[in-house]
Amino acid sequence: MTIGDRIQSADWKKEKHVPTIECPDQVETGMPFLVNVAVGKEIPHPNTTEHHIRWIDVYFQPAGDKFVYQVGHFDFGAHGEGTAYAHPAATLLMQVNEPGTLIALSLCNIHGLWESSKEIATSG
Ligand SMILES: [Fe+2]
Repeated sequence: MTIGDRIQSADWKKEKHVPTIECPDQVETGMPFLVNVAVGKEIPHPNTTEHHIRWIDVYFQPAGDKFVYQVGHFDFGAHGEGTAYAHPAATLLMQVNEPGTLIALSLCNIHGLWESSKEIATSG
């Protein structure tokens, strides 16, 4: 068994741990576009000192490529420190030169690793 076998996935509308990926379905080759990743878009995840989302990673796998490439890593460091709470959402600006798949991976401190993905087409 590998850690990959322990990464869970589900419909984000029914499972509060699954990260959502919002970005255009098709982007222009070599042009920057915004990607929003979040956990709890439909069903809020708890955000307490005891139970929270620690981080979200974003990867891109070009179509036909064996590997994934890390595009961003977002730590959510405050979960009740003082009166501060970081919410598990982030926006990044990126670009690609070919179509592929965006993958988001999130970590709940109690319920482990969760993933989702979204295909991106390119034009131009
Ligand atoms: Fe959780």
